[in-house]
Amino acid sequence: MALLIRVLALSLLCHGVIAGPSGPAAAQALTERSAPRKLHGRFLHITDIHPDQFYKVHSSTDQDGACHRGKGPAGTYGAETTDCDTPFALVNATFDWIAANLRDKIDFVVWTGDSARHDRDERIPRTPDQVLGTNAWIADRFAQLFADSDGRGMTVPVVPSFGNNDILPHNILMPGPNKWLQYYTHIWRHFIPEEQKHTFELGGWFHVEVIPNKLAVFSLNTLYFFDRNAGVDGCANPSEPGYKQLEWLRVQLQLLRERGMKAILMGHVPPARTQSKRLWDETCWQKYSLWTHQFRDVVVVGLYGHMNIDHFLIHDKDDIDMAAMSGSSEVGTREAMEDELSVQSASDYLVELREHWSKLPPPPTLASKREEINKGGRRERGKKRKDRWAERYHLSLIGPSIVPNYFPTLRVFEYNITGLENAAVWKDTSKKALAQDTADVSQKPLDLRHLSTIESDAEAEAETDIDINKSKKKKKRKNKPKKPQHDPNLIIPSPPSKTAPPGPAYSPQPLTLTGFTQYFANLTYINNLNLTSADEDDTETSSLPFFSWLRDGGGDDDGDDWWWWLRRWRKGKHSGKKPAGARPPRPREFAFEVEYSTFEDRIYRLDDLTVNSFVELAVRIGGVVGSSGEEEGGREVDAGMGLDDEGEGDEGVEVEVDEFEEGEDGSEKGGSDDDEEEEVGVEKKKKKKKGRKGKDRRRKRKGNKTWLHFLRHAFVCTLEKDELKKFS
Ligand SMILES: *[C@@H]1O[C@H](CO)[C@@H](O)[C@H](O)[C@H]1NC(C)=O
Ligand SMILES: *[C@@H]1O[C@H](CO)[C@@H](O)[C@H](O)[C@H]1NC(C)=O
Ligand SMILES: *[C@@H]1O[C@H](CO)[C@@H](O)[C@H](O)[C@H]1NC(C)=O
Ligand SMILES: *[C@@H]1O[C@H](CO)[C@@H](O)[C@H](O)[C@H]1NC(C)=O
Ligand SMILES: *[C@@H]1O[C@H](CO)[C@@H](O)[C@H](O)[C@H]1NC(C)=O
Ligand SMILES: *[C@@H]1O[C@H](CO)[C@@H](O)[C@H](O)[C@H]1NC(C)=O
Repeated sequence: MALLIRVLALSLLCHGVIAGPSGPAAAQALTERSAPRKLHGRFLHITDIHPDQFYKVHSSTDQDGACHRGKGPAGTYGAETTDCDTPFALVNATFDWIAANLRDKIDFVVWTGDSARHDRDERIPRTPDQVLGTNAWIADRFAQLFADSDGRGMTVPVVPSFGNNDILPHNILMPGPNKWLQYYTHIWRHFIPEEQKHTFELGGWFHVEVIPNKLAVFSLNTLYFFDRNAGVDGCANPSEPGYKQLEWLRVQLQLLRERGMKAILMGHVPPARTQSKRLWDETCWQKYSLWTHQFRDVVVVGLYGHMNIDHFLIHDKDDIDMAAMSGSSEVGTREAMEDELSVQSASDYLVELREHWSKLPPPPTLASKREEINKGGRRERGKKRKDRWAERYHLSLIGPSIVPNYFPTLRVFEYNITGLENAAVWKDTSKKALAQDTADVSQKPLDLRHLSTIESDAEAEAETDIDINKSKKKKKRKNKPKKPQHDPNLIIPSPPSKTAPPGPAYSPQPLTLTGFTQYFANLTYINNLNLTSADEDDTETSSLPFFSWLRDGGGDDDGDDWWWWLRRWRKGKHSGKKPAGARPPRPREFAFEVEYSTFEDRIYRLDDLTVNSFVELAVRIGGVVGSSGEEEGGREVDAGMGLDDEGEGDEGVEVEVDEFEEGEDGSEKGGSDDDEEEEVGVEKKKKKKKGRKGKDRRRKRKGNKTWLHFLRHAFVCTLEKDELKKFS
């Protein structure tokens, strides 16, 4: 019986079951009433709200209509799978849902920007009033949502950050001080600690001690790192705001280290970087990677938005290149990524990530497994990892959006609060902030002019485990003209002390992220549209409603602001359909439901959100190659991207079965059988018969299974299984 229930629950992975927090902390929450605890061990990540005051229900979702006019399938709570922005009704419903389900159960909010509509409708260009107006509206809603009963403050801190659409023209933010930073100093007045308002006005970055003396959240102004911001130029030159921001970050992280505190870094544009694409200027990316590596005892994780697809990044210290950091070496062939990814370019990007993951040295558990496989003269794959805690890596988690490019989502993280039961909470100290001891150095406004003299680089350099000679070697090979090898302005942060234990990003301890629950709102269900069949001229589109536009391969342009008009607008899954009759919209009750939870997801099997757990997952998503050897490294990136899925034969079918009827497989033991990483429960009976060859096939398939699962969630369960298979 219990088995049956589990099977049902598993087959409903994307349909969700219950609304409301789940996982261990949820159970704890119920017992809180008798013994109240100040911290809940939970926080909300919300991103890319994109409210659009011109959104019109039952308007057209095509490019001319843009959900602003015409007659079409735009639903009450938004037009899922389109390029339309967010109706106010969805914003309201989201806040109402947070109020009812999360408000009293979380410790802080990470809000990673883009709270204005896109500039996509030629007929209604954005104005500063609109951009600032929707931002102020959202900011005030957060302030009201968490308003203290006495009305004098907030119960929990909300940490906002700039999105590339929160300014005008989008992407371009000049160095501060400027009027945009001034506006936001006011709009975010409830969120920026009083003593940092001055530095915020200069650079748009700040941090909040969300758990006083324990944990700080750093709001990074990623627009100063963003490759598309033509108003600034990277992070190598001390006059650049990107440089200053990283100096600020370095000094602050050092102070946190000295105080025994930890940090969550957050911002809008993620430090995404693959073989061919990047979002940040290379010098900024390099320094950020160096900082996060050197402060690996302090930094818990990086949280970002902007890309709308659910995924993660693994940064490797071996990618750090001192010459690239100072801008003196060639940046390579990476192009800047488009503003917003089409599904096509998003999956190209994800395929590149997978490529990279498939080459990661496996974590210890898998390494021993692989040794087994490689026995008998088979090729060794990758270096074996000695680094028990995977400390050479750093993790960025990218949350999907509220704007329903797929389905609207929210993410609720849980973290370890063992031993913090009696820690002071933000609310206790926030009101006293003004009167606080000004001798506390961390509270002092920073004077940016003095930052570069704080440490001598020679000292710090000696302490890093980064190969600062690497770039020299490279350069010799390239035989390039001589330039300064090492930026005299670069101050390498000191690494953790040799006796320091691994930080919360690496080994489970207080403030380690233990998991998250990903919520989504199924707008197809909730909007409850009664639609006619597609128009004549759209028949072809409607036979493959969501996918057909991919054929044009839209989104390849690497261009400037006009790129948008080159690629095709996404009309969405209901494209070409119209509301039937004159019936007014009859939406169902709005609710977010669980899309998946890392505590329960039996394919991801994440014991926690430590780097090791993600590296292990990444290796599984990458796919276990090495069984037949030949795909390794030579996996054809494009092969699976074509629209024919011929040649997959039986194996393709098996993928389907594995992925979409997980219930049968999942009915074996719990997720505790770590040692069976690759084999877990898959057709155990058949295993013996199939022997070596069967095992190989199973391994390959298993890799694709995790990959398909990852892809499915990347697009928030909006793509059907046959559509997903085209990417694998
Ligand atoms: C969303 O709802 C529609 C309509 O009820 C349903 O067909 C679809 O399977 C649902 N999608 C997910 C991911 O739950
Ligand atoms: C959303 O909420 C605001 C109040 O914050 C209200 O004025 C507005 O009418 C609501 N809009 C919709 C579409 O529900
Ligand atoms: C870099 O090279 C120099 C000499 O070539 C050597 O003395 C130094 O130890 C090297 N530094 C590192 C960090 O490997
Ligand atoms: C939380 O941290 C404590 C103390 O380090 C540790 O004993 C415990 O196992 C951790 N809990 C989880 C769920 O990782
Ligand atoms: C959908 O619209 C058609 C045409 O107006 C109508 O006949 C039908 O009853 C409607 N269905 C629902 C469920 O409202
Ligand atoms: C798994 O994916 C790879 C490429 O991504 C493909 O070559 C292979 O055929 C797939 N395997 C199966 C069993 O579908």
